[in-house]
Amino acid sequence: YAAVVAKEFNSVTIENHLKMNAIRPCDTCWNYTLADSVVNWCLRNKKRVHGHTLLWHESFPKWLKKYNSKQDSAFVENVLKEHVMKTVKRYKGKIASWDVANEVIADKSTELRQSFWLTILGPNFLSRIIQYAKEADPDVKIFYNDYGQEYDYVKIEGIDKLLATLKFQNIKIDGIGFQMHTCIQSPSLDSIKNAIMHFAKQGYLIHISELDVPNYPKDGNKTMTDSMLRLQSERYKNIAAIYALVPQKQRFGITTWNLSDKDSWIRTYMKDELQKPLLFDEQYKRKPAYYGFREGLKISLKK
Ligand code: XIL
Repeated sequence: YAAVVAKEFNSVTIENHLKMNAIRPCDTCWNYTLADSVVNWCLRNKKRVHGHTLLWHESFPKWLKKYNSKQDSAFVENVLKEHVMKTVKRYKGKIASWDVANEVIADKSTELRQSFWLTILGPNFLSRIIQYAKEADPDVKIFYNDYGQEYDYVKIEGIDKLLATLKFQNIKIDGIGFQMHTCIQSPSLDSIKNAIMHFAKQGYLIHISELDVPNYPKDGNKTMTDSMLRLQSERYKNIAAIYALVPQKQRFGITTWNLSDKDSWIRTYMKDELQKPLLFDEQYKRKPAYYGFREGLKISLKK
């Protein structure tokens, strides 16, 4: 695993070890052991590390649940502040960019997602996370990461609204992360292109942050054919080629969500061990998807 990462990639996002439930397993404990070991491996191997993520409703530490009344808001704010400042400071000089928040806009909506954070801390929690992160490391690059912008254009309006609110408060976001857990057939390439260019035109860095391409839909025909692997390869190529439209200095990078098909979260998420969503097969050999993706990247590199 490590040999393939060392050889093929120049940037790493840690899948789970930097999430809040991993770092704060209980109210009196902090656990940076796993994250430290990956970060240090990355630095030794000259890989950039992108931080994921300071806040996500799904990586909520269970022990915090009981502090769920408005009277607890000062305490909860302090937990969040300490988490953000301690974490960003710990990796200052090692992790230069962070997804400060993940998925805070609701689906098909322009509003913030209902969450513990919104209920207890009110609608400006994101501004404060960014301020805490900047206080801990003034040079850190701030990313807003979400899924579905490539087909959910209402969510795009929601993100625009969030960005406008932050701008009004004089708070700067540097980049937008498109998770891009996509599939072979949909959405259309035009839809992906328009969504990416919508944010590229506003000057943001663009990170395709969690790319994977499941081979067939949840309830589709599950026979894995060569033609499916070819279509998957085309899809990877086309996405990389779309990325070439982003001005070079705004291309933060493309990250796939883990390495080989057997490491992919998609198998658990879709409850389907037959999915082969990534660039490397179970023996860590390059798949047709790898070669398609590389073709697409060559287009980016030319521009
Ligand atoms: C997923 C991981 O891949 C899983 O291992 C974990 O159990 C849950 O989180 N969007 C995100 C990622 O931003 O953090 C998620 O990662 C996948 C969806």
